[in-house]
Amino acid sequence: MRATLLTILVSFVFAIPGFSQDLPDGPGKDLVMKACTSCHSAENFTSKRNTKEEWQDVVRAMIEFGAEVKDNEVEIIVNYLTKNWGKSAIQAVPGAPVKHR
Ligand code: HEC
Repeated sequence: MRATLLTILVSFVFAIPGFSQDLPDGPGKDLVMKACTSCHSAENFTSKRNTKEEWQDVVRAMIEFGAEVKDNEVEIIVNYLTKNWGKSAIQAVPGAPVKHR
């Protein structure tokens, strides 16, 4: 039946964003959820591994695209992104405690 197929398609489409909502906890999570998932899904950045400098460039570029990030939030967001999707050796050992800084 047409209606059934439509219902399945519609619920499938609306279910997709649910997958991207599952970001790691930590300072900045709420900011990133708010500022970085309105234009594209979180996968745009969860699939990346960048250095802090590279994340800074990304965030700056997104602000130019129109992301609503306040000046004092940039650092928090960059740190959150670097901690979870950075290129440091720590990232090679998932779950290892961060000891240095
Ligand atoms: C105003 C809309 C908008 C918001 C808000 C936004 N982005 Fe984007 N983002 C884009 C667009 C458009 C692209 C694709 C542009 C491109 O690939 O050149 C993109 C692409 C990306 C990419 C892929 C870049 C690449 O080189 O492949 C990353 C990573 C990214 N965004 C991260 C973020 C982060 C982190 C935030 C929050 C600070 C954010 N985005 C918020 C519009 C936005």
